[in-house]
Amino acid sequence: MRKLGLFVVLSAVVGFGFVNSCAKEKVPVITTTPDCADTVRFSTQIAPMIQSNCIGCHDVGGSAPTLTNYNEISTNATAILSSLNGTPQLMPQGGPALNDTLIQQFTCWISQGKLNN
Ligand code: HEC
Repeated sequence: MRKLGLFVVLSAVVGFGFVNSCAKEKVPVITTTPDCADTVRFSTQIAPMIQSNCIGCHDVGGSAPTLTNYNEISTNATAILSSLNGTPQLMPQGGPALNDTLIQQFTCWISQGKLNN
């Protein structure tokens, strides 16, 4: 019984110390530049993303700018990225926006030099 009492007191002290140290931790810094640890591949990540989300409207012959190959996607990369974030209008048109992982991948692809890999 004494041991149990000591254990409770110790846990309370340790527990308090733990909560206290957490409270002092710095608030994580939110960066807008994602951590691009892996090299993004145009052939297996970027092209399929455009293919499944954009080509319905951005194919040859439509009113929207064509995004059917590397050159077109690469030339329009900055405009594509801002459209994914809703500027000047959200793409895919009519929404919903692509998930953060895909947008981050596209951001990384640009910062890695828009590789045609
Ligand atoms: C439902 C049809 C549709 C889909 C899907 C779509 N777009 Fe568009 N997009 C358009 C149209 C139409 C325009 C031409 C501007 C206008 O008339 O509103 C456009 C214009 C753009 C522009 C030029 C900037 C602007 O806003 O005018 C970019 C960049 C763009 N789209 C990127 C994309 C990307 C990237 C995707 C896929 C993630 C996508 N779009 C999916 C219809 C679409």
